[in-house]
Amino acid sequence: MDAGALPPFPLNAWYAAAWDHEVKRELLPRTICNQKIVFWRRSDGSVAAVEDACWHRLLPLSMGRLDGDDVVCGYHGLAFDGHGRCTRMPSQERLNPSACVRSFPAVQKHRFVWVWPGDPALADPALVPDLHWNDDPEWAGDGRVIHVNCDYRLVIDNLMDLTHETFVHHSSIGNAAVAETPFVTTHGDRLATVTRWMTDIDPPPFWRAQLGKPGNVDRWQIIRFEAPCTIAIDVGVAPAGTGAPDGDRSQGVNGYVLNTITPETNGTCHYFWAFARNYRLHDQRLTTELREGVATIFREDELVLEAQQKAIDANPGRPFYNLSIDAGSMWARRLIDRMIARELPPAAQQAAE
Ligand code: FES
Ligand SMILES: [Fe+2]
Repeated sequence: MDAGALPPFPLNAWYAAAWDHEVKRELLPRTICNQKIVFWRRSDGSVAAVEDACWHRLLPLSMGRLDGDDVVCGYHGLAFDGHGRCTRMPSQERLNPSACVRSFPAVQKHRFVWVWPGDPALADPALVPDLHWNDDPEWAGDGRVIHVNCDYRLVIDNLMDLTHETFVHHSSIGNAAVAETPFVTTHGDRLATVTRWMTDIDPPPFWRAQLGKPGNVDRWQIIRFEAPCTIAIDVGVAPAGTGAPDGDRSQGVNGYVLNTITPETNGTCHYFWAFARNYRLHDQRLTTELREGVATIFREDELVLEAQQKAIDANPGRPFYNLSIDAGSMWARRLIDRMIARELPPAAQQAAE
């Protein structure tokens, strides 16, 4: 079986479904991995996630309302709790015991609500991807979610190869050094990294402003991919020659670009991102400025990604060609494909190897 015949994403994984503040005491419908799900927050603060289709006549439950911790269907009033069990049938004397809707494991961590669309028995909260910088008191930042009309893997390709900064983001974070400096790639079973050190370079405008000092810098970009769709990028600059490549970053400024890209459908995704920094932690104005600045930069990516997806759709079967810059994204896709293959029936797993 060639990789193109595999499903596009594994189901046995935690996917970011929402920022924590998006899930309130009201119904939030969202499609995750082709499954329509409705989310709400229970009165104890925990998150409920059930299939967004009523057991009775399939009306989306998100068209109903919340009553206490239960969702009440907006058609004939059946109520379901967060485990998907029917708790009320207004026109029946007794509850039909088979009345239930599917529920999904959901947890809140690192300021995101995560949902597990696959086998609930495998939903181990310890497997939530590491984005701890998003709520660590030693880091400050904020982010957003954007909806992008492309296969989530195109966003991963984009983030695993930052040479595109030179061409897509030349007015902010890109300069010739990114495209010209070699990088090192490593990989394990779930993780892949791409490390690039640009020493003694003239910094691009964004980093010049963050550092607030003149002169050349040592700049780093250390990209950490966690399968299937989370990427944390350790980025920063320090005055050239102050020891950053050897581990002393004390003279520099450090940020993390946090990204987790959740498939909505095969050709669309929810892209959650944040930028966290370890300097001027209580400067809310800087937090807002950075969030808005990164949003503008990502808008440039969005235009490229959606145009790329349109071209892919218009040219079915056209292959991608790989350059040496694609080593990181090739590893990311390999790790994703391995996760997908592990979910296939045994005979299909052999064929996929
Ligand atoms: S469709 Fe939901 S109660 Fe009838
Ligand atoms: Fe970009």
